[in-house]
Amino acid sequence: MNPFQAPTGTRDLFGPDSARFEAVVGHFARRARLAGFGLLVSPMFEDVAVFRRSAGEESDVVKDEMYELTDKGGRNLALRPEGTASVVRAFVQHRPQLPWKAWYAAPMFRYERPQAGRYRQHHQLGVELLGTPDPAADVEVIALLAGFLDDVGIRRFELKVNSMGDMACMPAYRQRLLDHLKVHELDLCEEHQTRWRRNPLRVLDCKKPACAAVRQGAPRLVEALCPDCAAHFEAVLAGLDALKLPWRQDDALVRGFDYYTRTTFELGSLALDAAQNALGGGGRYDGLAEQLGGPATPGVGFGCGVERILLAADAEGALGGVTGDVDVFVVDLTGGGAALELSGSLRAVGLATDRAFDGRSLKSQLKVADRSGARLACIVGPAEADAGTVTVRVLAGTGAGHQESVDKEDLVSRCHALLAEPAAPEPAAR
Ligand code: HAM
Repeated sequence: MNPFQAPTGTRDLFGPDSARFEAVVGHFARRARLAGFGLLVSPMFEDVAVFRRSAGEESDVVKDEMYELTDKGGRNLALRPEGTASVVRAFVQHRPQLPWKAWYAAPMFRYERPQAGRYRQHHQLGVELLGTPDPAADVEVIALLAGFLDDVGIRRFELKVNSMGDMACMPAYRQRLLDHLKVHELDLCEEHQTRWRRNPLRVLDCKKPACAAVRQGAPRLVEALCPDCAAHFEAVLAGLDALKLPWRQDDALVRGFDYYTRTTFELGSLALDAAQNALGGGGRYDGLAEQLGGPATPGVGFGCGVERILLAADAEGALGGVTGDVDVFVVDLTGGGAALELSGSLRAVGLATDRAFDGRSLKSQLKVADRSGARLACIVGPAEADAGTVTVRVLAGTGAGHQESVDKEDLVSRCHALLAEPAAPEPAAR
């Protein structure tokens, strides 16, 4: 066996599978651009304090899962476990004009137990909208996530929403929750019997049955909201209703990071196992910019995992037509000059085109052409070169096996016409 393998919890993704990854990123980039978000490219590592201060020392991600390192200059850094803290750090550093709308596509690193849909390096697509507390901003980002999943072809998902309140109502709620947990301390799961005092909210999203039972009688966050937070939440829900986006309020949706205020949301796939069904999630973080040393600046956003989206797409049979195949393959039996010229002119008009190298035989080049998935082969032998023609052969789909001679000048339009035919023959009428 090769001594070097990709590290546990990571994977190499390449063609043709990577074409679906690329398509998902393309759909997201388009959606984000259409909604006025600009791409933010930021470092993959940050001062470790950026994450400690924002996600919270008690969050699983910071406490147990962060990849920390010390560089040769003695700086304490962490590989980015999530995107929001980095985006807000960049905002505080550069102070772009508000509202600031940024999107990102980036690898994230978490030392988790690898399993289907859970990796140590995963890839998130996300948006962050900074500078407005308007509930319409929450609705805009939630609708963007739902619309993007729809573009990918994922239809079986559920939107869960909740509100975490703010500094006016959260401290009192926290105290009431602590009082409840104190009474039930010994009924909690083993981990939370020691942790509940430091971060009682974590008990609310603990998946263990013991904590779920204690949660039954716990005070409800949505009933403890101050009038401003309650009105904000109502406005978000009314916005979702106006867009006809069905939602379900979920008391357990407190999410894993300490920075959330007011709205939290998650989109879960109904086609995947419950343990890995979160396709994306996010919420508001109105105090985060201040926590990272900037001016008070409200913000809202989400991150969604490309690997999870691909799993859900598989489960729903979406993205089936995305193969990464080329359209045309040029077979050149004259030494390579024709392949150079024809592949250039076909690519220039937007036809994905490949060619063989090394002056191989006709048989061998046609084999590579078949493997490439191309629907058309453009063959140039000495006779064609003399006559200024190209032999076009249909390799797959409607008319497979058909072959014709085309003048070189007409090649582009003929290829376009042949490729416009349906890929598979129509089923015969009965
Ligand atoms: P998160 O819920 O931790 O939120 O991650 C967002 C998404 O990333 C998840 O819904 C899931 O699809 C994917 N994901 C997370 N961990 C893994 C993993 N180990 N393997 C595969 N996929 C994974 C955040 O990270 C927040 N920054 C979201 C946010 C943005 N909140 C406000 N703005």
